[in-house]
Amino acid sequence: MNRLRLGVNVDHVATIRNARGGRHPDPVRAAKVAIAAGCDGITAHLREDRRHIRDDDMARLKAEIDKPLNFEMAATEEMVAIVLKTRPHAVCLVPEKRTERTTEGGLDVVRQRSQLAPVVHELKHAGIKVSLFIGAAPAQIEMAAELGAPVIEIHTGSWCDALTEGRTKEAGAEWQLIRDGALLAASVGLEVHAGHGLDYATAETIAALPQVVELNIGHFLIGEAVFEGLAESVKFMRAAMERGRNKARKETA
Ligand code: PXP
Repeated sequence: MNRLRLGVNVDHVATIRNARGGRHPDPVRAAKVAIAAGCDGITAHLREDRRHIRDDDMARLKAEIDKPLNFEMAATEEMVAIVLKTRPHAVCLVPEKRTERTTEGGLDVVRQRSQLAPVVHELKHAGIKVSLFIGAAPAQIEMAAELGAPVIEIHTGSWCDALTEGRTKEAGAEWQLIRDGALLAASVGLEVHAGHGLDYATAETIAALPQVVELNIGHFLIGEAVFEGLAESVKFMRAAMERGRNKARKETA
């Protein structure tokens, strides 16, 4: 079974910094702490409104960290130009609305096929690993494969929200969708990542899906860092992911 990678999203370190307008806390320093604590890569989202991560943060992340940088962005001309200069290891294309608090849903790759196709092509041609952040509906997964993206990231937000809010039946249905989606994606040759809203418990659960090879987690880890410190929250998360993976290993042995 593949090792499960952890990408730490440092957007919310920048959110706290920007609340006061200075330089502290620095998302690049957070990235280095997370890497020293055992994560496998850093994720950051350069939004059109620059509400958290800024252009200079992305440039510094690329220059100063020694693990892969996953650059989240909307599929716009402005972002493509920045990414071609920054040359991160990977790009995750996400939908973006100015009024949303966070990335609320996945991309509708079926409806946006003609806008996304040239962006996926250009980034791939530049040697950047492209992933599409989508819900786990079969039509979305099949279209992601058709678009030629090598990776999808399954949006786990609805599943996590349903669990947190005690909507057990919906959580069960969302989980089924994720499980089946991961299987379908792997069967059509896609690398499967997952993220949004994950905490220790949900990361442990999803770690048991052998098709999922990377989790991208931000808000919960930065929130826990207030209480435990960032290095500890990253280590606890890695341990939760290992527990989930080991359970699956025992079940398939
Ligand atoms: N993956 C993607 C594509 C995202 O947009 C986000 C949120 O920025 C995350 C993962 C991380 O979500 P969270 O901050 O809820 O852990």
